[in-house]
Amino acid sequence: MAEIESADYHDFVFKDGRLVGEFEQMYSKSSVAPWHQDEDGARLDCKIALGIAEFALPGHGKVLEAGCGLGYFADLLAKRLPQARIFGCDISPTAVHNAGSMFPGIGFSVADLKKPMQAAEPYDLVVIRGCFWYLFDAIDMVVSNLTALVAPGGRLLVAQNFPPLDRDFIGKDILPCPEALVGLFAPAFKTLVDCRFADRTANGGNDDWVVFLSEKIP
Ligand SMILES: C[S@@+](CC[C@H](N)C(=O)[O-])C[C@H]1O[C@@H](n2cnc3c(N)ncnc32)[C@H](O)[C@@H]1O
Repeated sequence: MAEIESADYHDFVFKDGRLVGEFEQMYSKSSVAPWHQDEDGARLDCKIALGIAEFALPGHGKVLEAGCGLGYFADLLAKRLPQARIFGCDISPTAVHNAGSMFPGIGFSVADLKKPMQAAEPYDLVVIRGCFWYLFDAIDMVVSNLTALVAPGGRLLVAQNFPPLDRDFIGKDILPCPEALVGLFAPAFKTLVDCRFADRTANGGNDDWVVFLSEKIP
């Protein structure tokens, strides 16, 4: 893939109406924490997702944040679930390295959700936040991987923002609405919580959220 010369993280994500997806270059060149992950703790979707995570796993267990980036949300999970062992994975080695430096109590590793993955020991709770607009072009593999990562009877927590659904957006052909995302997991999971809300405080335009918790059918 060609080198992209920019310090603006947006340039590594989408360009000319298509997914660029150069996340390793992005994390090594961006002048700020991409998507301002370091400020996420204040966001409403984080507070709601963390509350649902606590409801989903009140005691001990193994938790994976898939697509964890710099690890800020994994760290919030670790603080909210003090009895759990927290892990994170991301496609970017730079992000994983920096996350490990900042949050040494969390086990971070490199993994590509679009390629076949093996879960040696599956997780009691898998969390994925804000990633599907970078994964939709290999959605069957991603769903298969996430399903395999959850232990039988374990839980999957998804937090995903959508643009206004009446607009065109990249990935709309695959994920036209929150129901389509929830439905992708329906064959293997039972939905326990389905929370929809609009966060107009963020002012970003992609502020219609679905946060859902599903339990893997044993
Ligand atoms: C919007 S960020 C979300 C980061 C983190 N979940 C959070 O809430 O702060 C999306 C993340 O997905 C990661 N990602 C993109 N494609 C991926 C893939 N194929 N496999 C694993 N992670 C991927 C990116 O590197 C990026 O860190």
